[in-house]
Amino acid sequence: MRLSRYFLPVLKENPAEAQIVSHRLMLRAGMIKQQAAGIYSWLPLGYKVLKRIEQIVHEEQVRAGHIPLLMPTLQPADLWRESGRYDDYGQEMLRIKDRHERDMLYGPTNEEMITDIFRSYVSSYKQLPLTLYHIQWKFRDEVRPRFGVMRGREFLMKDGYNFDLTKEDALHAYNRHMVSYLRTYERMGLTAIPMRAASGPIGGDNTHEFLVLAQTGESEVFYDAKVPDLKLGERTVDYDNRDEVAAICEEFTTLYARTDETHDEAVFNQIPEERRMVGRGIEVGQIFYFGTKYSESMGATVVTPDGNRVPVEMGSHGIGVSRLLGALIEANHDEKGIIWPEGVTPFHVGIVNLKQGDTSTDAACEAIYKALQGHGLDPLYDDREDRAGAKFATMDLIGLPWRITVGPRGLANNVVELTCRRTGESEEMSATAAVERIAKIYEAH
Ligand SMILES: Nc1ncnc2c1ncn2[C@@H]1O[C@H](COP(=O)(O)OP(=O)(O)O)[C@@H](O)[C@H]1O
Ligand SMILES: [Mg+2]
Repeated sequence: MRLSRYFLPVLKENPAEAQIVSHRLMLRAGMIKQQAAGIYSWLPLGYKVLKRIEQIVHEEQVRAGHIPLLMPTLQPADLWRESGRYDDYGQEMLRIKDRHERDMLYGPTNEEMITDIFRSYVSSYKQLPLTLYHIQWKFRDEVRPRFGVMRGREFLMKDGYNFDLTKEDALHAYNRHMVSYLRTYERMGLTAIPMRAASGPIGGDNTHEFLVLAQTGESEVFYDAKVPDLKLGERTVDYDNRDEVAAICEEFTTLYARTDETHDEAVFNQIPEERRMVGRGIEVGQIFYFGTKYSESMGATVVTPDGNRVPVEMGSHGIGVSRLLGALIEANHDEKGIIWPEGVTPFHVGIVNLKQGDTSTDAACEAIYKALQGHGLDPLYDDREDRAGAKFATMDLIGLPWRITVGPRGLANNVVELTCRRTGESEEMSATAAVERIAKIYEAH
Protein backbone atom coordinates (compact mmCIF):
# COMPACT_ATOMS: atom_id res chain seq x y z
CA MET A 1 0.00 0.00 0.00
CA ARG A 2 1.14 3.51 -0.85
CA LEU A 3 0.24 5.97 1.88
CA SER A 4 -0.67 8.63 -0.71
CA ARG A 5 -3.53 6.36 -1.84
CA TYR A 6 -4.52 4.90 1.52
CA PHE A 7 -7.18 6.06 3.98
CA LEU A 8 -5.38 6.72 7.24
CA PRO A 9 -7.10 9.58 9.06
CA VAL A 10 -4.60 10.14 11.91
CA LEU A 11 -5.44 12.74 14.54
CA LYS A 12 -2.89 15.32 15.74
CA GLU A 13 -4.65 16.05 19.02
CA ASN A 14 -5.39 13.67 21.84
CA PRO A 15 -9.13 12.94 21.78
CA ALA A 16 -10.62 14.18 25.06
CA GLU A 17 -13.11 11.33 25.43
CA ALA A 18 -10.44 8.61 25.63
CA GLN A 19 -9.46 7.69 29.19
CA ILE A 20 -6.98 4.91 28.50
CA VAL A 21 -3.99 4.69 26.21
CA SER A 22 -5.30 1.99 23.85
CA HIS A 23 -8.50 3.93 23.15
CA ARG A 24 -6.51 7.14 22.62
CA LEU A 25 -4.05 5.48 20.26
CA MET A 26 -6.72 3.66 18.25
CA LEU A 27 -8.50 6.97 17.65
CA ARG A 28 -5.29 8.85 16.91
CA ALA A 29 -3.97 6.17 14.56
CA GLY A 30 -7.21 6.28 12.56
CA MET A 31 -8.21 2.71 13.42
CA ILE A 32 -11.75 3.23 14.68
CA LYS A 33 -14.49 5.85 14.70
CA GLN A 34 -17.21 5.92 17.30
CA GLN A 35 -20.72 5.96 15.78
CA ALA A 36 -22.73 5.73 19.00
CA ALA A 37 -21.81 4.84 22.58
CA GLY A 38 -19.88 1.56 22.42
CA ILE A 39 -20.45 1.16 18.66
CA TYR A 40 -17.57 1.64 16.23
CA SER A 41 -16.69 1.70 12.58
CA TRP A 42 -13.47 -0.14 11.86
CA LEU A 43 -11.40 2.12 9.64
CA PRO A 44 -8.95 0.43 7.23
CA LEU A 45 -5.99 0.18 9.62
CA GLY A 46 -8.09 -1.12 12.52
CA TYR A 47 -9.95 -3.48 10.22
CA LYS A 48 -6.67 -4.97 9.04
CA VAL A 49 -5.56 -5.80 12.57
CA LEU A 50 -9.02 -7.15 13.43
CA LYS A 51 -8.81 -9.51 10.43
CA ARG A 52 -5.33 -10.70 11.41
CA ILE A 53 -6.50 -11.47 14.93
CA GLU A 54 -9.54 -13.30 13.54
CA GLN A 55 -7.30 -15.33 11.25
CA ILE A 56 -5.09 -16.49 14.13
CA VAL A 57 -8.16 -17.42 16.17
CA HIS A 58 -9.55 -19.44 13.25
CA GLU A 59 -6.28 -21.26 12.59
CA GLU A 60 -5.85 -22.32 16.20
CA GLN A 61 -9.47 -23.47 16.53
CA VAL A 62 -9.22 -25.57 13.39
CA ARG A 63 -5.91 -26.99 14.62
CA ALA A 64 -7.69 -28.12 17.80
CA GLY A 65 -10.31 -29.93 15.70
CA HIS A 66 -13.11 -27.38 16.09
CA ILE A 67 -15.44 -26.61 13.19
CA PRO A 68 -16.35 -23.09 11.99
CA LEU A 69 -19.87 -22.08 10.97
CA LEU A 70 -21.76 -18.78 11.08
CA MET A 71 -24.94 -18.00 12.99
CA PRO A 72 -26.90 -14.75 12.52
CA THR A 73 -26.69 -11.70 14.78
CA LEU A 74 -30.50 -11.53 15.12
CA GLN A 75 -32.27 -14.32 16.94
CA PRO A 76 -35.91 -15.19 17.67
CA ALA A 77 -36.87 -14.65 21.32
CA ASP A 78 -38.65 -18.01 21.43
CA LEU A 79 -35.37 -19.92 21.62
CA TRP A 80 -34.44 -17.93 24.70
CA ARG A 81 -37.85 -18.55 26.25
CA GLU A 82 -37.08 -22.27 26.05
CA SER A 83 -33.92 -21.95 28.11
CA GLY A 84 -35.51 -19.44 30.45
CA ARG A 85 -32.91 -16.78 29.71
CA TYR A 86 -35.23 -14.39 27.86
CA ASP A 87 -36.46 -13.13 31.22
CA ASP A 88 -33.20 -13.67 33.11
CA TYR A 89 -30.91 -11.71 30.80
CA GLY A 90 -32.31 -8.29 31.71
CA GLN A 91 -31.41 -4.90 30.29
CA GLU A 92 -28.21 -5.99 28.59
CA MET A 93 -30.22 -7.74 25.90
CA LEU A 94 -31.25 -5.56 22.96
CA ARG A 95 -34.82 -6.57 22.19
CA ILE A 96 -36.36 -5.83 18.81
CA LYS A 97 -39.80 -6.36 17.24
CA ASP A 98 -40.04 -7.12 13.53
CA ARG A 99 -42.91 -5.86 11.30
CA HIS A 100 -45.03 -8.85 12.29
CA GLU A 101 -44.65 -7.93 15.96
CA ARG A 102 -42.45 -10.96 16.56
CA ASP A 103 -39.96 -10.67 19.39
CA MET A 104 -36.39 -10.74 18.20
CA LEU A 105 -33.09 -9.91 19.85
CA TYR A 106 -29.54 -9.06 18.84
CA GLY A 107 -27.57 -12.02 20.18
CA PRO A 108 -25.41 -11.36 23.24
CA THR A 109 -24.18 -15.00 22.95
CA ASN A 110 -25.35 -18.17 21.17
CA GLU A 111 -25.88 -21.11 23.53
CA GLU A 112 -29.58 -21.38 22.63
CA MET A 113 -29.13 -21.12 18.89
CA ILE A 114 -26.28 -23.64 18.69
CA THR A 115 -28.27 -26.05 20.87
CA ASP A 116 -31.16 -25.65 18.44
CA ILE A 117 -28.88 -26.43 15.50
CA PHE A 118 -27.53 -29.46 17.32
CA ARG A 119 -30.92 -30.93 18.25
CA SER A 120 -32.18 -30.47 14.68
CA TYR A 121 -29.53 -32.75 13.19
CA VAL A 122 -27.80 -34.88 15.80
CA SER A 123 -29.43 -37.79 17.58
CA SER A 124 -26.76 -40.44 18.10
CA TYR A 125 -23.65 -40.70 20.25
CA LYS A 126 -21.90 -41.79 17.05
CA GLN A 127 -21.94 -38.18 15.83
CA LEU A 128 -20.00 -37.04 18.92
CA PRO A 129 -17.71 -35.45 19.93
CA LEU A 130 -18.54 -32.21 18.15
CA THR A 131 -17.30 -28.66 18.69
CA LEU A 132 -18.74 -25.85 16.56
CA TYR A 133 -17.69 -22.23 16.72
CA HIS A 134 -18.16 -18.91 14.98
CA ILE A 135 -16.72 -15.42 14.99
CA GLN A 136 -19.65 -13.06 14.96
CA TRP A 137 -20.76 -9.64 16.25
CA LYS A 138 -22.52 -9.61 19.58
CA PHE A 139 -24.57 -6.89 21.21
CA ARG A 140 -24.79 -6.27 24.94
CA ASP A 141 -26.38 -3.08 26.07
CA GLU A 142 -23.70 -2.40 28.68
CA VAL A 143 -24.61 0.19 31.32
CA ARG A 144 -21.26 1.85 30.92
CA PRO A 145 -19.61 1.19 27.57
CA ARG A 146 -16.09 2.58 27.88
CA PHE A 147 -12.43 2.31 27.00
CA GLY A 148 -13.17 2.09 23.27
CA VAL A 149 -13.34 -1.45 21.91
CA MET A 150 -12.45 -2.81 25.31
CA ARG A 151 -16.01 -2.58 26.64
CA GLY A 152 -18.18 -1.95 23.65
CA ARG A 153 -21.87 -2.59 23.15
CA GLU A 154 -21.35 -4.15 19.73
CA PHE A 155 -18.25 -6.33 19.76
CA LEU A 156 -16.73 -9.23 17.88
CA MET A 157 -16.46 -12.52 19.72
CA LYS A 158 -15.30 -15.99 18.89
CA ASP A 159 -17.70 -18.33 20.65
CA GLY A 160 -17.44 -22.09 20.49
CA TYR A 161 -19.65 -24.84 21.87
CA ASN A 162 -18.76 -28.45 22.57
CA PHE A 163 -21.21 -31.37 22.54
CA ASP A 164 -20.09 -34.59 24.19
CA LEU A 165 -21.55 -37.84 25.45
CA THR A 166 -19.90 -37.92 28.87
CA LYS A 167 -18.60 -35.46 31.40
CA GLU A 168 -15.05 -36.79 30.83
CA ASP A 169 -15.36 -36.07 27.11
CA ALA A 170 -16.68 -32.58 27.84
CA LEU A 171 -13.79 -31.91 30.21
CA HIS A 172 -11.39 -32.96 27.48
CA ALA A 173 -13.09 -30.39 25.22
CA TYR A 174 -12.64 -27.83 28.01
CA ASN A 175 -8.93 -28.65 28.22
CA ARG A 176 -8.56 -28.52 24.45
CA HIS A 177 -9.98 -25.02 24.51
CA MET A 178 -7.63 -23.95 27.26
CA VAL A 179 -4.57 -25.11 25.33
CA SER A 180 -5.74 -23.72 21.99
CA TYR A 181 -6.41 -20.36 23.68
CA LEU A 182 -2.93 -20.30 25.21
CA ARG A 183 -1.48 -20.89 21.74
CA THR A 184 -3.75 -18.23 20.19
CA TYR A 185 -2.66 -15.50 22.60
CA GLU A 186 1.00 -16.47 22.40
CA ARG A 187 0.93 -16.20 18.60
CA MET A 188 -0.28 -12.63 19.03
CA GLY A 189 2.66 -11.88 21.30
CA LEU A 190 0.44 -11.72 24.38
CA THR A 191 0.72 -13.36 27.78
CA ALA A 192 -2.81 -14.24 28.89
CA ILE A 193 -3.05 -16.08 32.19
CA PRO A 194 -5.83 -18.62 32.80
CA MET A 195 -7.39 -17.74 36.15
CA ARG A 196 -10.05 -19.53 38.05
CA ALA A 197 -13.23 -17.48 37.75
CA ALA A 198 -16.86 -17.30 38.80
CA SER A 199 -19.44 -18.43 36.28
CA GLY A 200 -22.08 -15.66 36.09
CA PRO A 201 -25.19 -15.86 33.88
CA ILE A 202 -23.97 -18.76 31.69
CA GLY A 203 -24.04 -21.09 34.70
CA GLY A 204 -21.85 -24.07 35.54
CA ASP A 205 -18.96 -24.47 37.92
CA ASN A 206 -15.87 -25.17 35.83
CA THR A 207 -14.60 -21.95 34.32
CA HIS A 208 -11.39 -20.05 33.67
CA GLU A 209 -10.88 -16.52 32.43
CA PHE A 210 -7.79 -15.52 30.45
CA LEU A 211 -6.29 -12.27 31.67
CA VAL A 212 -3.70 -9.98 30.15
CA LEU A 213 -1.90 -8.10 32.90
CA ALA A 214 -2.38 -4.33 32.51
CA GLN A 215 -2.78 -1.40 34.88
CA THR A 216 -5.95 -0.37 33.07
CA GLY A 217 -7.62 -3.78 33.37
CA GLU A 218 -11.10 -3.92 34.86
CA SER A 219 -10.47 -7.01 37.01
CA GLU A 220 -8.35 -7.22 40.13
CA VAL A 221 -6.06 -10.24 39.93
CA PHE A 222 -3.96 -12.22 42.41
CA TYR A 223 -1.23 -14.52 41.18
CA ASP A 224 2.03 -16.26 41.86
CA ALA A 225 4.94 -14.27 40.34
CA LYS A 226 6.02 -17.44 38.52
CA VAL A 227 2.81 -17.68 36.48
CA PRO A 228 3.53 -15.04 33.78
CA ASP A 229 6.73 -16.94 32.88
CA LEU A 230 4.83 -20.07 31.83
CA LYS A 231 4.97 -20.46 28.05
CA LEU A 232 3.67 -23.00 25.57
CA GLY A 233 6.50 -22.10 23.21
CA GLU A 234 7.23 -24.22 20.16
CA ARG A 235 5.96 -27.56 21.48
CA THR A 236 3.52 -29.41 19.27
CA VAL A 237 0.30 -30.59 20.86
CA ASP A 238 -1.72 -33.65 19.92
CA TYR A 239 -5.21 -32.37 20.73
CA ASP A 240 -6.64 -35.91 20.68
CA ASN A 241 -4.28 -37.04 23.40
CA ARG A 242 -6.27 -36.45 26.60
CA ASP A 243 -3.40 -36.97 28.99
CA GLU A 244 -1.07 -34.68 27.10
CA VAL A 245 -3.67 -31.90 26.89
CA ALA A 246 -4.66 -32.34 30.55
CA ALA A 247 -1.02 -32.19 31.62
CA ILE A 248 -0.56 -28.83 29.88
CA CYS A 249 -3.67 -27.48 31.60
CA GLU A 250 -2.31 -28.65 34.92
CA GLU A 251 1.01 -26.97 34.23
CA PHE A 252 -0.78 -23.67 33.61
CA THR A 253 -3.36 -23.82 36.41
CA THR A 254 -1.58 -25.34 39.40
CA LEU A 255 0.14 -22.17 40.58
CA TYR A 256 -2.13 -19.59 42.22
CA ALA A 257 -3.92 -17.27 39.77
CA ARG A 258 -7.41 -15.97 40.50
CA THR A 259 -9.59 -12.95 39.90
CA ASP A 260 -11.13 -11.05 42.82
CA GLU A 261 -14.33 -13.10 42.43
CA THR A 262 -12.69 -16.37 43.48
CA HIS A 263 -9.69 -15.02 45.39
CA ASP A 264 -9.00 -16.82 48.66
CA GLU A 265 -6.69 -14.94 51.00
CA ALA A 266 -5.85 -18.04 53.08
CA VAL A 267 -4.70 -20.05 50.06
CA PHE A 268 -2.90 -17.02 48.56
CA ASN A 269 -0.95 -16.51 51.79
CA GLN A 270 0.53 -19.98 51.51
CA ILE A 271 2.82 -18.80 48.70
CA PRO A 272 6.07 -17.07 49.72
CA GLU A 273 5.41 -13.39 50.30
CA GLU A 274 7.81 -12.11 47.62
CA ARG A 275 5.89 -14.12 45.00
CA ARG A 276 2.42 -12.84 45.95
CA MET A 277 1.41 -10.48 43.16
CA VAL A 278 -1.65 -8.25 43.14
CA GLY A 279 -2.48 -6.37 39.97
CA ARG A 280 -5.05 -5.72 37.32
CA GLY A 281 -5.98 -7.62 34.19
CA ILE A 282 -8.01 -7.46 30.99
CA GLU A 283 -10.26 -10.45 30.37
CA VAL A 284 -9.61 -11.58 26.78
CA GLY A 285 -11.36 -14.94 26.95
CA GLN A 286 -13.32 -17.34 29.08
CA ILE A 287 -14.08 -21.05 28.96
CA PHE A 288 -16.98 -22.84 30.68
CA TYR A 289 -18.08 -26.38 31.26
CA PHE A 290 -21.76 -26.35 32.17
CA GLY A 291 -22.93 -29.91 31.55
CA THR A 292 -26.59 -30.34 30.60
CA LYS A 293 -27.96 -26.89 31.52
CA TYR A 294 -29.11 -26.08 27.95
CA SER A 295 -29.39 -29.58 26.50
CA GLU A 296 -31.88 -30.53 29.21
CA SER A 297 -34.07 -27.45 28.96
CA MET A 298 -34.01 -27.48 25.15
CA GLY A 299 -34.16 -31.21 24.56
CA ALA A 300 -30.77 -31.78 22.91
CA THR A 301 -30.38 -35.50 23.49
CA VAL A 302 -28.55 -38.42 21.90
CA VAL A 303 -29.02 -42.16 21.99
CA THR A 304 -26.22 -43.90 23.92
CA PRO A 305 -24.54 -47.20 22.88
CA ASP A 306 -26.95 -49.11 25.14
CA GLY A 307 -30.02 -47.48 23.65
CA ASN A 308 -30.86 -44.87 26.30
CA ARG A 309 -31.54 -41.25 25.45
CA VAL A 310 -29.47 -38.68 27.42
CA PRO A 311 -28.99 -34.91 27.24
CA VAL A 312 -25.57 -33.98 25.81
CA GLU A 313 -22.77 -32.58 27.92
CA MET A 314 -21.83 -29.07 26.83
CA GLY A 315 -19.52 -26.14 27.37
CA SER A 316 -19.03 -22.73 25.79
CA HIS A 317 -15.80 -20.90 25.14
CA GLY A 318 -15.27 -17.29 24.13
CA ILE A 319 -12.49 -15.01 22.92
CA GLY A 320 -12.97 -11.24 22.85
CA VAL A 321 -11.68 -10.68 19.32
CA SER A 322 -12.31 -6.91 19.11
CA ARG A 323 -11.28 -6.40 22.75
CA LEU A 324 -7.95 -8.00 21.92
CA LEU A 325 -6.93 -4.94 19.90
CA GLY A 326 -7.25 -2.83 23.02
CA ALA A 327 -5.45 -5.41 25.16
CA LEU A 328 -2.63 -5.70 22.62
CA ILE A 329 -2.10 -1.94 22.60
CA GLU A 330 -2.27 -1.68 26.40
CA ALA A 331 0.55 -4.25 26.50
CA ASN A 332 2.55 -2.84 23.55
CA HIS A 333 3.04 0.92 23.28
CA ASP A 334 5.31 3.78 24.27
CA GLU A 335 4.95 7.58 24.38
CA LYS A 336 5.17 7.77 20.58
CA GLY A 337 2.44 5.27 19.81
CA ILE A 338 1.60 1.63 19.23
CA ILE A 339 4.23 -1.13 18.90
CA TRP A 340 2.56 -4.06 17.09
CA PRO A 341 3.89 -7.55 17.69
CA GLU A 342 4.87 -9.11 14.32
CA GLY A 343 2.04 -11.65 14.59
CA VAL A 344 -0.74 -9.05 14.27
CA THR A 345 0.78 -5.94 12.67
CA PRO A 346 -1.40 -4.29 10.00
CA PHE A 347 1.58 -3.89 7.65
CA HIS A 348 4.80 -5.81 8.00
CA VAL A 349 7.14 -2.88 7.41
CA GLY A 350 7.03 0.82 6.66
CA ILE A 351 9.13 2.46 3.94
CA VAL A 352 9.96 6.12 4.48
CA ASN A 353 11.13 8.11 1.48
CA LEU A 354 13.16 11.06 2.80
CA LYS A 355 13.18 12.93 -0.52
CA GLN A 356 10.02 12.29 -2.47
CA GLY A 357 10.45 13.45 -6.05
CA ASP A 358 14.17 12.73 -6.17
CA THR A 359 14.55 10.30 -9.06
CA SER A 360 17.02 7.87 -7.53
CA THR A 361 15.44 7.92 -4.05
CA ASP A 362 11.99 7.26 -5.55
CA ALA A 363 13.43 4.42 -7.65
CA ALA A 364 15.18 2.84 -4.65
CA CYS A 365 11.92 2.96 -2.62
CA GLU A 366 9.96 1.42 -5.48
CA ALA A 367 12.50 -1.39 -5.80
CA ILE A 368 12.35 -2.13 -2.05
CA TYR A 369 8.53 -2.00 -2.13
CA LYS A 370 8.38 -4.51 -4.98
CA ALA A 371 11.04 -6.77 -3.46
CA LEU A 372 9.14 -6.94 -0.15
CA GLN A 373 5.93 -7.79 -1.99
CA GLY A 374 7.87 -10.44 -3.88
CA HIS A 375 8.51 -12.09 -0.51
CA GLY A 376 4.77 -12.15 0.16
CA LEU A 377 5.01 -9.21 2.56
CA ASP A 378 2.66 -6.27 2.91
CA PRO A 379 4.65 -3.00 3.14
CA LEU A 380 3.28 0.51 3.73
CA TYR A 381 5.24 2.98 1.63
CA ASP A 382 5.08 6.61 2.77
CA ASP A 383 5.36 8.26 -0.65
CA ARG A 384 3.84 11.58 0.39
CA GLU A 385 5.65 14.88 0.12
CA ASP A 386 6.12 15.66 3.76
CA ARG A 387 8.87 16.39 6.29
CA ALA A 388 10.93 13.43 7.50
CA GLY A 389 9.89 14.19 11.10
CA ALA A 390 6.20 14.02 10.24
CA LYS A 391 6.67 10.74 8.36
CA PHE A 392 8.55 9.19 11.29
CA ALA A 393 5.87 10.37 13.72
CA THR A 394 3.13 8.69 11.66
CA MET A 395 5.07 5.42 11.42
CA ASP A 396 5.76 5.47 15.17
CA LEU A 397 2.10 6.24 15.94
CA ILE A 398 0.66 3.42 13.84
CA GLY A 399 3.28 1.08 15.27
CA LEU A 400 4.71 -0.97 12.39
CA PRO A 401 7.44 -3.12 13.98
CA TRP A 402 10.03 -2.35 11.24
CA ARG A 403 10.87 0.72 9.16
CA ILE A 404 13.19 1.09 6.18
CA THR A 405 14.33 4.68 5.69
CA VAL A 406 15.64 5.67 2.27
CA GLY A 407 17.40 8.97 1.52
CA PRO A 408 19.90 10.40 -0.99
CA ARG A 409 22.72 10.55 1.56
CA GLY A 410 22.51 6.84 2.40
CA LEU A 411 22.03 5.86 -1.21
CA ALA A 412 25.29 7.61 -2.10
CA ASN A 413 26.95 4.96 0.11
CA ASN A 414 24.61 2.20 -1.08
CA VAL A 415 22.82 1.93 2.27
CA VAL A 416 19.36 2.34 3.72
CA GLU A 417 18.44 2.35 7.40
CA LEU A 418 16.52 -0.46 9.10
CA THR A 419 14.85 0.58 12.36
CA CYS A 420 13.21 -1.59 14.98
CA ARG A 421 10.15 0.15 16.44
CA ARG A 422 10.40 -1.65 19.80
CA THR A 423 14.05 -0.92 20.60
CA GLY A 424 14.43 2.21 18.49
CA GLU A 425 17.73 0.81 17.22
CA SER A 426 18.78 1.51 13.63
CA GLU A 427 21.24 -0.28 11.41
CA GLU A 428 22.63 0.69 8.02
CA MET A 429 22.78 -1.95 5.30
CA SER A 430 22.18 -2.44 1.60
CA ALA A 431 18.57 -2.38 0.42
CA THR A 432 18.85 -6.07 -0.49
CA ALA A 433 20.10 -6.98 2.98
CA ALA A 434 17.27 -5.01 4.59
CA VAL A 435 14.65 -6.83 2.51
CA GLU A 436 16.23 -10.21 3.28
CA ARG A 437 16.32 -9.41 6.98
CA ILE A 438 12.62 -8.48 7.05
CA ALA A 439 11.69 -11.58 5.07
CA LYS A 440 13.60 -13.73 7.57
CA ILE A 441 11.92 -12.10 10.57
CA TYR A 442 8.45 -12.84 9.18
CA GLU A 443 9.19 -16.45 8.22
CA ALA A 444 8.06 -17.46 11.70
CA HIS A 445 4.76 -15.53 11.55
N1 LIG B 1 -18.71 -5.48 26.20
C1 LIG B 1 -17.68 -6.14 25.68
N2 LIG B 1 -16.85 -5.52 24.79
C2 LIG B 1 -15.81 -6.18 24.24
N3 LIG B 1 -15.52 -7.46 24.52
C3 LIG B 1 -16.30 -8.12 25.38
C4 LIG B 1 -17.40 -7.50 26.01
N4 LIG B 1 -18.00 -8.41 26.84
C5 LIG B 1 -17.29 -9.54 26.73
N5 LIG B 1 -16.25 -9.38 25.87
C6 LIG B 1 -15.25 -10.38 25.50
O1 LIG B 1 -15.86 -11.61 25.14
C7 LIG B 1 -15.33 -12.67 25.95
C8 LIG B 1 -16.38 -13.70 26.24
O2 LIG B 1 -17.49 -13.08 26.86
P1 LIG B 1 -18.14 -13.55 28.25
O3 LIG B 1 -17.14 -14.20 29.12
O4 LIG B 1 -19.38 -14.26 27.89
O5 LIG B 1 -18.49 -12.10 28.77
P2 LIG B 1 -18.47 -11.52 30.26
O6 LIG B 1 -17.08 -11.72 30.76
O7 LIG B 1 -18.84 -10.10 30.07
O8 LIG B 1 -19.47 -12.33 30.97
C9 LIG B 1 -14.81 -12.00 27.18
O9 LIG B 1 -13.78 -12.74 27.76
C10 LIG B 1 -14.32 -10.66 26.65
O10 LIG B 1 -13.00 -10.81 26.17
MG1 LIG C 1 -16.34 -13.57 30.88
